[in-house]
This record gives sequence, structure tokens and C-alpha cells, in this order.
Amino acid sequence: MNRLTNRTALITGGARGIGAAIAKLFVQEGASVIITDILQAEGELTAAALGNKCLFIHHDVTLASAWKLAVSVGEARMGPISILVNNAGVVLNKPLRQTSQEEFERILQINTTGPFLGIEAILPSMTKHRSGSIINISSIAGLVGFTNCIAYVASKYALRGMTKTAALELAKDGIRVNSIHPGVIRTPMVINDAMTDMIDQITADIPMGRIGEPVEIAQLALYLASDESSYCTGSEFTADGGLTAQ
Ligand SMILES: NC(=O)c1ccc[n+]([C@@H]2O[C@H](COP(=O)([O-])OP(=O)(O)OC[C@H]3O[C@@H](n4cnc5c(N)ncnc54)[C@H](O)[C@@H]3O)[C@@H](O)[C@H]2O)c1
Repeated sequence: MNRLTNRTALITGGARGIGAAIAKLFVQEGASVIITDILQAEGELTAAALGNKCLFIHHDVTLASAWKLAVSVGEARMGPISILVNNAGVVLNKPLRQTSQEEFERILQINTTGPFLGIEAILPSMTKHRSGSIINISSIAGLVGFTNCIAYVASKYALRGMTKTAALELAKDGIRVNSIHPGVIRTPMVINDAMTDMIDQITADIPMGRIGEPVEIAQLALYLASDESSYCTGSEFTADGGLTAQ
């Protein structure tokens, strides 16, 4: 119940899906939570449902200036941020031959540059308090390749590598950095017409015989946010029903 008492977390892409599930669990565990997203109405609704322990801030993770504002407004309202969850992300389901440079760079901008800017923006505060847990939501697409996903796979492999480098550089400041690698999780990102065929194919191969639920990723994020993971940094944590064990 109180695994995050007196902590403040900032969760990007928190309006819905995995980010919203993490926000809900963190609030239940005593944290004050700032959720950020470009989806204003959904973000406000999600925050309102979690009461006064949750604040929504409109924020595009690709903009350094927006990051600065989100951190300063968030800290002024909710206290020093000691947990950052870089969760916002987008997928592009397109073959290599049909992916334009513009599309490729847009995916990298959101999924990879976004977390980079987030780490930069949060560092002054975490360094000052000599404490922090940064959790990067990568993917099993950061562990193995997937057809028709070149930009997404590139972005999630990059995030996994950034996690390890940031962990090495920040360990002496008391800041831990880890990545989570979800398999197929029931959220709007994958439960939609464009993704149906691909998801059906992947689901047929999942040893546990089912896709995952957002709360099953939130539980892992809770472990990494809390002191229970005090000796974990630079590591990757997979929750995929056994898919990548094959
Ligand atoms: N659902 C899955 O199967 C799955 C699997 C592996 C990894 N992931 C990762 O989990 C994370 C969450 O995904 P989800 O499944 O909850 O998807 P989702 O689409 O439900 O949520 C993603 C959120 O990110 C927000 N977002 C997108 N671009 C943004 C930007 N520029 N600035 C701020 N917010 C932005 C969206 O508005 C949305 O609310 C993503 O990083 C995704 O890549 C998801």
C-alpha cells in the first residue's frame, strides 16, 4: 500500500494505456503523480479520476522547452520529482522499403529523443537530492527484431542502450536507470484496426497464450520505482508472457 509514500513521479504519455495504469498504481502506493501527454481531454480525465494526488500537464516530449516547463510546474505543485517514467511512445507498422526518412525520424524523435530530453530535464533536481529512479519503457522490439517495424525497433533498441549509458554515468549521483520491455499489452496502441493482423500473428506465438494487461507492466514499474529495487541499475526487465524466451 505505501511503497511510494512521499515520492513524486512524472509519467509521460500518462493519459491512457500503460502510462495511465502506472499512474493509478503509483497513486495507490502513496505517490504524488504528474502525468503528461499531448492528449489534453484524456489526460485531464485520467488525472481527475485519481484525485488530488495526480496532476495533468499538457506536454510534448519532443520539445526541450516543454520538458523544462513540465518539470518546473510539476515540482512547484507536487514536490521534487524522484521518479521519471519515460513512457510516451508511438509505433509505425510499415515495411522497411515503405518507410520514409521523415517517418523514421519522427518515431525516433518521440521514442528516443523524448526520453533523452526527459533525463536531461530531470537531472538537476535528482542530482541535487542525490536520489532518483528513471524508468524507460522500451519494448521487446528493443530486444529482438520485428518485421514491418524498422523505425520502432530502432527507437526501442536505442532507448535500451541509452538506459545502460545513463545508468553508468548517474550511479555515483544516487540515480538508478532501468528499462522495461513489454510484450503485447492491451492498450489503444495495439488494439486497433491497423495493428490487428500483426498482433494476431505475434499472439499465436506467446507461450502463456494471452496478451498482457497494462497493470502487469505497472507492477514492474512500481518495483523499479521503489526501494525494493535499490541494487538494480542499467538493467532490462521483460514482461512478455515468455515470447522472447523462445
Ligand atoms: N502496448 C504494447 O503492446 C506495448 C508493447 C511494448 C512497448 N510499449 C510501449 O509502452 C509505452 C506506452 O504505450 P501504450 O501501449 O500505453 O500506448 P498508448 O498509445 O495507449 O499510449 C501512449 C501515449 O503516449 C502519448 N504520446 C504520443 N506522442 C507523444 C508526445 N510527443 N508527447 C507526449 N505524449 C505522447 C499518446 O498520446 C498516448 O497517450 C510506449 O512507449 C510503447 O512503445 C507498448
